[in-house]
Amino acid sequence: MSAARETIPGSDPADRVAGVPRAARADVPVVSLEGVHKSFGDNEVLRGVDLSVAAGQALVIIGRSGSGKSTLLRCINLLEPIDDGRILLEGDEITRRGADVSRVRQRIGMVFQQFNLFPHLTAMDNVTLAVRKIRKVPRAEAETRARVSLASVGLEEKAAHYPHQLSGGQQQRVAIARALMMEPHVMLFDEVTSALDPELVGEVLIVMRDLARSGMTMLVVTHEMQFAREVGDRLVFMDEGKIVEEGAPVDVLDRPRDERTRTFLRRTLQLPDSLEELEINDEGGVA
Ligand SMILES: Nc1ncnc2c1ncn2[C@@H]1O[C@H](COP(=O)(O)OP(=O)(O)OP(=O)(O)O)[C@@H](O)[C@H]1O
Ligand SMILES: [Mg+2]
Repeated sequence: MSAARETIPGSDPADRVAGVPRAARADVPVVSLEGVHKSFGDNEVLRGVDLSVAAGQALVIIGRSGSGKSTLLRCINLLEPIDDGRILLEGDEITRRGADVSRVRQRIGMVFQQFNLFPHLTAMDNVTLAVRKIRKVPRAEAETRARVSLASVGLEEKAAHYPHQLSGGQQQRVAIARALMMEPHVMLFDEVTSALDPELVGEVLIVMRDLARSGMTMLVVTHEMQFAREVGDRLVFMDEGKIVEEGAPVDVLDRPRDERTRTFLRRTLQLPDSLEELEINDEGGVA
C-alpha cells in the first residue's frame, strides 16, 4: 500500500482533479458493486448484484423480507465479507485483500433500525464518543461540532438528555447525528423508521430528506414509499438476492415492469385501489 493511500481521501493532491476532491467528482461513483455474491452456508443471499451510486444521489432500495437488502448494506460497510465480485468506494476497491477496514468504515455512516445508543451516556456524549476515541478530536472541539450536528437533526436542546429521556424518533435522530460526526462520504440507512411509532416516523424522514437535499450520497432501505417517491433519485427493487428492476421512483412505483415488482407493490398497498384487489391466497398470504 502506498503512502498516499494512508491519507484522508481528497486531502492528498494525487486524489484531486483541478482542486476538486475525488469524492466530489461526478464521474467516479461513490459506491459501486460489481457482480457481488454472498452466501450464508447454502443460502445464496446476494446473487450477482451490480449497482452504482453517484455523488449526491439518494438511492432507495425496496424488496420483500429476506431479499438481501440488509446484507447488501452490511457488505458495503464490510460487516460481511463477500464471496465473489467487488465493491468500490470512491474508486477504491474496498473488498480487496488487505483493505483497511476501519478507514473504510470511517467514510461510511450507517444507521440501523435499532438506535444502539449507549444508555448511560447523554446525547452529547453518544454523538462525540467516536470522534474523540477514534479521531482523537479534543472534547471541546468535538462538542462544538456535535452541537452543529445535533442542531441539524433538530435536537440542540436535548444534548444533555439520556436516551431514556428521549422519544424513539429523537433517539434515532441522535443516531443520525452521531453518524454525521464522522463526516461520512456516504450514509447507509437500514429501515431506520421501522421500529418507531407511526407518529414519530415523519420527524426522522424529514431529517433524512434534508440530508439528501444537502447533497449527501445515501443508500436507503425503507418501506416508506412516499419517502422513496419524493426523496429518492433512483429506486431499486430487489428480489431473491438480485436487482430485478430499477429506475426513477415514480416510474418503478407507478409503472412497474416486472411482475415481481408489481406483486410486491400490491402487497404493500401502494397501488391505487389495491385494497379492493387483495385476497388471502392458499398459503395464507396476501395476493
Ligand atoms: N448472519 C447471517 N447468518 C445466516 N443467514 C443470514 C445472516 N444474515 C442474513 N441471513 C439470511 O439472509 C437472507 C437475507 O437476509 P437480509 O437480512 O439481508 O434480508 P432483508 O431483505 O434485509 O429482509 P428484511 O426486510 O426482513 O430486513 C435471509 O434468508 C436471512 O435469513
Ligand atoms: Mg433487513
